[in-house]
Amino acid sequence: MKVMVIGGGGREHTIVKKLKENPEITELYALPGNGGIAEDAVCVDISAKDIDGVVAFAKEKAIDFAVVAPDDPLVLGMVDALNAIGVDCFGPDKKAALIEGSKVFSKNLMKKYNIPTAEYAVFDNMAKALEYLETAPIPTVVKADGLALGKGVVIAETREAAKDAVRSMMEDKIFGASGDHVVIEEFLTGPEVSVLAFTDGKTMVPMISSMDHKRALDGDKGLNTGGMGTIAPNPYYTEAIATECMEKIFLPTMEAMNKEDRTFRGCLYFGLMLTPNGPKVIEYNCRFGDPETQVVLPLLESDLLTIMRHVSAGTLAEAEVKFSKKAACCVIMASAGYPKSYEKGFPITLPENHSQIFVAGAKQKDGQLLTDGGRVLGVTEVADTLAEAVEKSYETVKTVKFENAYYRKDIGSKALAAEV
Ligand code: AMP
Ligand code: GLY
Repeated sequence: MKVMVIGGGGREHTIVKKLKENPEITELYALPGNGGIAEDAVCVDISAKDIDGVVAFAKEKAIDFAVVAPDDPLVLGMVDALNAIGVDCFGPDKKAALIEGSKVFSKNLMKKYNIPTAEYAVFDNMAKALEYLETAPIPTVVKADGLALGKGVVIAETREAAKDAVRSMMEDKIFGASGDHVVIEEFLTGPEVSVLAFTDGKTMVPMISSMDHKRALDGDKGLNTGGMGTIAPNPYYTEAIATECMEKIFLPTMEAMNKEDRTFRGCLYFGLMLTPNGPKVIEYNCRFGDPETQVVLPLLESDLLTIMRHVSAGTLAEAEVKFSKKAACCVIMASAGYPKSYEKGFPITLPENHSQIFVAGAKQKDGQLLTDGGRVLGVTEVADTLAEAVEKSYETVKTVKFENAYYRKDIGSKALAAEV
């Protein structure tokens, strides 16, 4: 079977490694992949957003199955284009990907179907948004409607900061057309949980829960990043909360998408906040999270390709989806300076056994792996307990060398404190 994975970060490296466990795969491609993924798949220099290029490649190689991992190609309709030439895919079509592609759409969906989320107002007119902010409760949260590389959310501690955020999105257009509409929403508090779920529109199978660490610095300080580390399972996410989320959030979201004629097939990501008034949805993503995938998939005991093919065929109910009872921790090693400016091109030395080191931003040059991005590596370890997984990850981190390496020293500490 010929399989291709679209994307080229740490999430895609994790997916590629997991897919490879299936012996039915005879050829495995990553478009564009990266210098680390090249150890596990054939990397092809076609951008993940280049729909025509990807379709032409799929035809040329007679690809049987595609996994479309990042948000942009999904929102642009990559799955629709591949389905049109007869390639089965894991990932939602364009209509369903709107659940991540438009915050206005997702907020209105939740309101219409009574799915718990922060109170909000939508604006397409800057003067009205600024007027609303005169009396809105502070802190408040300002969100650009469309995709914004994970940077379209501003938590404003003052009225002035909220107005600045609105002006930069709606007037200065720092996120382009994504700022034509903004959502201004209630500031919620409580522990955050990420839950990724397989769904084919009929069955919903949540994966093991996880916790991201989005801020750049220890103690959740500093700028927001793509994610500096993850742990799984998330100790805040008890059995009782999981049951409540299934009833009030996961199944109602699946049904809502069906009713809107936007059946979602793929991995639906629920970004949840466990507020004093119960779990609420902070955001939906139409794909696997990064770096959540780097702790969730290493704990998956069932075959990933089989599950993905069942999702695509609408037969998820027949698939076995089993997770280990162990725990995992992923520490992201980044280039110093990330998420602002940083230098690249430094040689990376990995330990002998690096099967659970997922490469996010690195390239190969003359047989040498060089740093090539803000987030460079995700160092994952699995162990019987979370404490051991955290300790092992940091031991492995010490054996990885590259100049200007930066990582948070406290990944998992909040979770460990919550365990006792
Ligand atoms: P996002 O880029 O949508 O993942 O949002 C980034 C982060 O902003 C989330 O992980 C939350 O920590 C925070 N956030 C988003 N919406 C809210 C909200 N309504 N209340 C409090 N925090 C929020
Ligand atoms: N880790 C957050 C995301 O993938 O959006």
